[in-house]
Amino acid sequence: MLEHLHSDAVRRQQPRPAESRRSPPAFFVVGGQTVERILGSAHASVMEIVRQAYLAHSAGASVNPPSLFLRFPGKPSSRIIALPAALSNTGSAAPGPVGIKWIASFPDNLAQGLPRASAVLILNDPQTGHAYACVESARISAARTAASAAVAAGALNGGTPGSAVLGVIGCGPIAQATVEYLLAAGWRLEGCVAHDLDASRARDFCRWLTERHDVRGEALAGHERVIGEAGLLVFATTAAAPYVDSPAPFRREQIVLHVSLRDLGPAVIRACFNVTDDLEHCLKAGTSLHLTASEDGNHRFVDGTIGELLDGTLRPDPDRPKVFSPFGMGILDVAVGAWVFEQSVRSGHASVMADFYA
Ligand SMILES: NC(=O)c1ccc[n+]([C@@H]2O[C@H](COP(=O)([O-])OP(=O)(O)OC[C@H]3O[C@@H](n4cnc5c(N)ncnc54)[C@H](O)[C@@H]3O)[C@@H](O)[C@H]2O)c1
Repeated sequence: MLEHLHSDAVRRQQPRPAESRRSPPAFFVVGGQTVERILGSAHASVMEIVRQAYLAHSAGASVNPPSLFLRFPGKPSSRIIALPAALSNTGSAAPGPVGIKWIASFPDNLAQGLPRASAVLILNDPQTGHAYACVESARISAARTAASAAVAAGALNGGTPGSAVLGVIGCGPIAQATVEYLLAAGWRLEGCVAHDLDASRARDFCRWLTERHDVRGEALAGHERVIGEAGLLVFATTAAAPYVDSPAPFRREQIVLHVSLRDLGPAVIRACFNVTDDLEHCLKAGTSLHLTASEDGNHRFVDGTIGELLDGTLRPDPDRPKVFSPFGMGILDVAVGAWVFEQSVRSGHASVMADFYA
């Protein structure tokens, strides 16, 4: 039976090593509305968690095997991805959060009025391995993705946010979340140009930007003008293969947050300063970096990782457009998800199933 518990009661229910032989651990569920409420006022915390997770990964304090893609014959655009991950607490040998995100992407859902992505995060006790919580995670995934883009934008801009005309190509929830995090990070948006294959989505996005954030947005019919006019560019489409083939419209001062990973052709990638989250991860699954490496027979065009930018061992090249292509790492989901879980317990909004393992 699921019950809502306040934090004292939850603490009594949580597994402790000495007790675990006597009473089975409890299992918690944290629903989407609770996650949304917690994340709604937590942009700075989430960006700091993401920053620390990247630094930990760069320092070798993580275990993050390659994501596993479940695909379906006859339904090539749909997939469910498993992202297992473990982090050590930075600066100590103590184990950090452990878990797995299981995220489905079914683009045809949009036509039925359903979100493309849905996800759960399972958190495991690092001492016993017991799964102790299931957290709604489409929101966590969007927040950690947007936070990583905002962290990268600042790092690629020399360590601080700046001012720019924003360009958005692909105007779904990931684009919206990215804008929220860029603003929370301190970016000043001088206006926005947006494009989506579904023109109504670009218009809705611009309306939202004006009403919610007082940033004037203009929906454009093609991606070329967006690339030409923006200083800070977000790709958040569901394109399966590159459709931007020429580097000509890109400018050396531009920062490109290539969150959707498959928009830029190899000629564009080669002309840019390229940063990813993890080299082994990003050279897979038909990403633009993967395609470029397949053509070139090497990955010398990748300049480094976000961890290296953050720890100061890599500096952005002022003479080339700067592109961040994050494959999306499970360490971000478990780090942000474990924090959200803690907050839900503190506020008494975690539901517990005390007899799950009984
Ligand atoms: N790298 C990461 O860590 C990470 C994490 C989460 C999501 N993502 C990716 O972000 C992307 C966006 O996610 P979402 O939830 O907002 O998706 P969504 O499906 O809700 O929105 C995507 C939008 O892109 C538009 N689009 C598709 N192809 C286009 C093209 N060629 N030009 C212009 N618009 C185009 C669609 O019409 C749609 O409105 C997805 O590809 C998703 O896989 C990446």
